[in-house]
Amino acid sequence: PETGCLSIIVLGASGDLAKKKTFPALFNLYRQGFLQSNEVHIFGYARTKISDEELRERIRGYLPQGKESMEQVSNFLQLIKYVSGSYDAPEGFQALDKAISEHEVSTNSTEGTSRRLFYLALPPSVYPPSNLGGWTRIVVEKPFGKDLASAEELSSQIGELFEEPQIYRIDHYLGKEIVQNLLVLRFANRFFLPLWNRDNIANVQIVFREDFGTEGRGGYFDQYGIIRDIIQNHLLQVLCLVAMEKPISLNPEHIRDEKVKVLQSVVPIKDEEVVLGQYEGYKDDPTVPNSSNTPTFATVILRIHNERWEGVPFILKAGKALGSKKAEIRVQFKDVPGDIFRCKKQGRNEIVMRLQPSEAIYMKLTVKQPGLEMSTAQSELDLSYRQRYQGVVIPEAYERLILDTIKGDQQHFVRRDELKAAWEIFTPLLHRIEKGELKSLQYKTSSRGPAEADVLLEKAGYVQTHGYIWIPPTL
Ligand code: BG6
Repeated sequence: PETGCLSIIVLGASGDLAKKKTFPALFNLYRQGFLQSNEVHIFGYARTKISDEELRERIRGYLPQGKESMEQVSNFLQLIKYVSGSYDAPEGFQALDKAISEHEVSTNSTEGTSRRLFYLALPPSVYPPSNLGGWTRIVVEKPFGKDLASAEELSSQIGELFEEPQIYRIDHYLGKEIVQNLLVLRFANRFFLPLWNRDNIANVQIVFREDFGTEGRGGYFDQYGIIRDIIQNHLLQVLCLVAMEKPISLNPEHIRDEKVKVLQSVVPIKDEEVVLGQYEGYKDDPTVPNSSNTPTFATVILRIHNERWEGVPFILKAGKALGSKKAEIRVQFKDVPGDIFRCKKQGRNEIVMRLQPSEAIYMKLTVKQPGLEMSTAQSELDLSYRQRYQGVVIPEAYERLILDTIKGDQQHFVRRDELKAAWEIFTPLLHRIEKGELKSLQYKTSSRGPAEADVLLEKAGYVQTHGYIWIPPTL
C-alpha cells in the first residue's frame, strides 16, 4: 500500500547527519508535495533529553531562512515530534512505538493501514515493526560494520528482524545525479558500447578529494579511516556501475546481480598497489591518539579478473585536507595506434564524469587547432549541467533516496551480498593497516597527497595531461 498514514522515524535525530542531511531532505520532499501533512508524521529519536521545540529549533537552522519559505518551514517543523530514550533498553523504543501508534490511530480513522520508515544512523537493537498491516522499512546508514566479520554479524542481526526487501542500506553516492546517469550513458549510447573494454581503455580513476580535514569528527574517523569512510562504499559503488555488465533489465535485482558479479571478480589487492597518507596536523585533534596510523588519504588499485577488464587498473583515490574539493570518474583511453599527428604529447582521449562540484560530463579529444596551420590541440566535448540544463534543480542525493524508500524502490540501495563482497575486497588490507604492516605517509594539507601516489598512478599506466585544464564554463 502506498497510501495511508506514513510515519518516518529518524533514529539519532539529534546527531549531525540528521540535522544536516536527513531533515533538510525531508523538508525538500515536503515542500514539493511528496509528504502530505494529513498523513505524514516525523518522529525524532535520540538519547539527548530535549523537547519537541528544541529539536525543531536545531533543525530550523539547516532549513531555508528566507521570508518566502518561513511558513512552509514552520508547517514542516510542526510535523516533527521528539522522543528520547536509549538504544540498548526497550523502554525508549516502547515509548516511541506508543507515540507512533497514537498517531497512526488518529490518522487512520478511515484507512487502517500504516507505513513505518525507520531511518537509522545507528546500529540497531530494537525496531518496533508496524502491526497495522501496510509496511515497515528501515533505512540503514553506514558504518555497516568495520570488516567482513562484523558486517556479517550486523547483517544477521538485522536479518532476524527484517527481510531483505525491507532493508535500505543507504550509500548517498548512489543518489548523485551523475552516478545515476552512468547506466544510461553506458547502455543507451552506441558510442560507448564498443569502446568500453580492455581493448580501448587504458585505466579508470575514481577520485574523491576534500579540501578540509576531519573537523570535529576525528574520534569517529580514527576508528574507520578513509578506506571505510569513502573507498569501500562510495567509490566502490561507483566502480560497480562503471564496470558491470549490462543488466537484463532495470529491475533492481537485475542491476544488483551485476554489481555483485563485478565485486566478486576483483582480485586481492597487492600491497605495492596501495599508497596511504595522513595529513600533517591530523593528530592535533585531542580525540585522535598520538600513535594513530589511520589513513586520511589512500590510493588503491583494484583489478577485475574478467573478459572485459583484465589488465585495466581501476584506481580508487580518496583524501581529506587536500588542495581541492571534487569527485570525478576519469576513463582514460589508450594511445591511437599508428599515430601520424604525434598526439601523444597532447594527451590521451578521456571521458570525465564530474560528480561534484558543477556536474559535468566531458570528453577530451584531439582536434585541429583552428587556423592556417595543420597543428593539433586538445579540446573537449562538454556537457556542463549548469549551462545545458539552466533552471533545472538537481535534487540532493538524500532527497532522492528517501523518496525511493517511501516508494519501495531498492535499485539505488546496497544489497546484503553486495555489501559482503565489498568487505571481502577490503578486509585483508584493512587488517594489515591495523597491524601496522602498511604505514600512512605524512602529507601537507592543501596538497595533492603523498607524492608516492602519483608515482603509483604513473606505474599503473596513467598518463597525466600537462598544459591543459578543463575549466567549467561560467554562464
Ligand atoms: C560521508 C563521509 O559518507 O561522505 C564524509 O563520511 C564525507 O567523510 C562525505 O565528507 C562526502 O559526501 P559528499 O556528498 O559531500 O561528497
